[in-house]
Amino acid sequence: MATPWIAPSILSADFARLGEEVDAVIRAGADLVHFDVMDNHYVPNLTIGPLVCEALHRHGIKAPIDAHLMVRPVDRIVPDFARAGATYITFHPEATEHIDRTIELIREHGCRPGLAFNPATPLDYLDYTLEKLDLVLIMSVNPGFGGQRFISSALGKLEQVRRRIQASGRDVRLEIDGGVKIDNIQAIARAGADTFVAGSAIFGSPDYAATIRAMREHIARG
Ligand code: DX5
Ligand code: ZN
Repeated sequence: MATPWIAPSILSADFARLGEEVDAVIRAGADLVHFDVMDNHYVPNLTIGPLVCEALHRHGIKAPIDAHLMVRPVDRIVPDFARAGATYITFHPEATEHIDRTIELIREHGCRPGLAFNPATPLDYLDYTLEKLDLVLIMSVNPGFGGQRFISSALGKLEQVRRRIQASGRDVRLEIDGGVKIDNIQAIARAGADTFVAGSAIFGSPDYAATIRAMREHIARG
């Protein structure tokens, strides 16, 4: 399996000191910066957009930015995130009229496309898309807020997606998002995830490096 990546969700960072917070999690060993974009339309919350992504990029963030778009429609904003320096752009199939077109659009703009599955979204959406994706995101909470409880049916879903990725023979990251903590990350890794989003578990802890280290240790136990 691919090297595990830890992706702190900046949704739980101190927004008044965002640049410093991102520097701190990178220093603490994070692999990518999970950037949650919410529009108060597709999800009932409102967060940050391409301007903030660009500001972080200019601030000197070298780690890849993992833009998780919880917005509808998606296509209008994709080029803006590409320009703002996003590496991955992940969207929800329910949030676009034409899923294949959105995937192509992300690719054309030089970014890596990801598709996100809400807890009740079936995996059928992978039937004609997996061959074009670089990332599959399994939501283990309903999107919109940090600090929610992990929904355990996500584990079975991860196992299914892992099998499909293996069968495809392609290099696709399998990301879990929502309620990831030190004490459940081992089971999540065992179910097949290789990319772990954690917001409150990291930013809510007193020592980001210790938390990320503990997460890696639990993942490695297998
Ligand atoms: C929820 C977001 C998550 C969230 C994770 O809609 O996509 O990235 O911030 O936060 P925690 O780790 O606190 O569940
Ligand atoms: Zn997210």
